[in-house]
Amino acid sequence: MKFYKILEMWYLNNKRDLPWRNSSNPYFIWLSEIILQQTRIQQGLDYYKVFIEHYPTVQDLANASEDEVLKDWQGLGYYSRARNLHFSAQYICNELNGVFPSTYKELLKLKGVGDYTASAIASICFNEKTAVVDGNVYRVLSRYFNINTPINSPKGIKYFKELAQELIKDANPKDYNQAIMDFGSMVCKPANPTCDTCVLADGCIAKAKNLINDLPVKEKK
Ligand code: ADE
Repeated sequence: MKFYKILEMWYLNNKRDLPWRNSSNPYFIWLSEIILQQTRIQQGLDYYKVFIEHYPTVQDLANASEDEVLKDWQGLGYYSRARNLHFSAQYICNELNGVFPSTYKELLKLKGVGDYTASAIASICFNEKTAVVDGNVYRVLSRYFNINTPINSPKGIKYFKELAQELIKDANPKDYNQAIMDFGSMVCKPANPTCDTCVLADGCIAKAKNLINDLPVKEKK
């Protein structure tokens, strides 16, 4: 079975039950992905709920004061995320008539949205085949395909993005992207991955060569 199919099937049976997963409202998905950029899911959940409650729509967020937004963000750190959220909400309401951008390319124009977040929103909400590459994806791909290129080098960043883009070609982008992230954090973990019961074990080169603990490679800066 193909790599993407195995992951999609695994996801069907093992996906985490997260509040934004019942939605493809880009505003909700955007909020969740900005929160998760530098925050663990467990910590981010409460903040997500507060934001959805206090600002149920992008208009509500735009109409709030920056102070209010920063206050609700308190404790999460990296406060530029909150400022960018507020700024972008106003941009969407004032410049885009309140219509959320719906392509990877347009999403990238939002302050605070980079390649990862634009790919996540475009795939989850608009079915665009844009592969996400986060720490989980680097780990799964480097191990499965035994890739030694440092994940924090320009060459590595380009190589992994291209590989991820190739792998999503025939997949359901919404499920596949979230599948590989969940898989990386639940099975193909940094320490003590559960290779014995892993659905990708048969094709995993790092497992066959006993290199799991050597991958991914990170360059010292
Ligand atoms: N980490 C950040 N965004 C995620 C998502 N949508 N699914 C799983 N893990 C994530």
